[in-house]
Amino acid sequence: MKPRHLISIDDLKKNEIEVLLENAASYKEISTREVKKVPALRGKTVALCFIEPSTRTRASFEIAAKRLSADTLSFQSKGTSLEKGESIKDMAKTLQAMKIDALVLRHSSCGVHYQLTDYDFSVINAGDGMHEHPTQALLDLFTIKDKIGRLENLKVAIVGDILHSRVARSLIKVLKLFEAEITLVAPPTLLPPFLTGLDLKITNFLEEVVSEVDIVYLLRIQKERAALSYFPSEREYIRFYSFQLSHLKKLKKGSFLMHPGPINRGWELSSEVADSDVSLIEEQVENGVAVRMAVLSYFLAGEGGN
Ligand code: NCD
Repeated sequence: MKPRHLISIDDLKKNEIEVLLENAASYKEISTREVKKVPALRGKTVALCFIEPSTRTRASFEIAAKRLSADTLSFQSKGTSLEKGESIKDMAKTLQAMKIDALVLRHSSCGVHYQLTDYDFSVINAGDGMHEHPTQALLDLFTIKDKIGRLENLKVAIVGDILHSRVARSLIKVLKLFEAEITLVAPPTLLPPFLTGLDLKITNFLEEVVSEVDIVYLLRIQKERAALSYFPSEREYIRFYSFQLSHLKKLKKGSFLMHPGPINRGWELSSEVADSDVSLIEEQVENGVAVRMAVLSYFLAGEGGN
């Protein structure tokens, strides 16, 4: 059977996302056991290739694969033949010859994963440039369901550098599947053109939305994608779009703050806010392991495909 790939949220049907979230809830329990391991992927090999910096995504994919008893090999471009000019397709051919079952790939170029869909292994996108980050969206959805108790009729504000955010692209798609009302809060220059026709609200005023939404989702300014040149000054950005204690006081009761990490304290949020009890940042990281366990087992051993 041809392997299935997870490159975009569009690769999953709504009912598959629901199954993945249910499975993730059972996988979450495994991480609380003394022996944190199940044999679901025994005998499978998962290659983790991160050609862009990563802490959370990389660690959680590796932990997830290991908790499912898969063998893992982890590498970056440094120290591999990619540094010697080998193409990503030739690298994929090499890995295929070694009979890997999945390649978890982070890459700075949008869509590079689509070049690798004809090999014998599943390609799982761990973030490609400004394009998508599907497992982040799934773990965010899982965290929202866990904390709010539902996925229907949600009101979500997404704040910050939306233009350069693969996290936002995947998150908006997945939230829209569940008919969330989404408000984007960003300088006009950091709003991407793809948004037209998606029925999203847009505002410049963070103060106005914080008292109305269930989730405020903050995004890092993607300095590595030249985002600093999209607004006049750091001071102005922080004045209008940084989530401060004053916003926290206005937050609706039962609402939460989320951020995919890494956070830049003082930029997208103040330190007090990052460490406050409405912040779900650590829960998101914890749930990342369970959701990636669900994804790997679904694509490599389950109903999802292979
Ligand atoms: C995000 C990413 O790399 O896209 N981080 C993550 O995967 N948790 C967001 C970011 O870098 O700002």
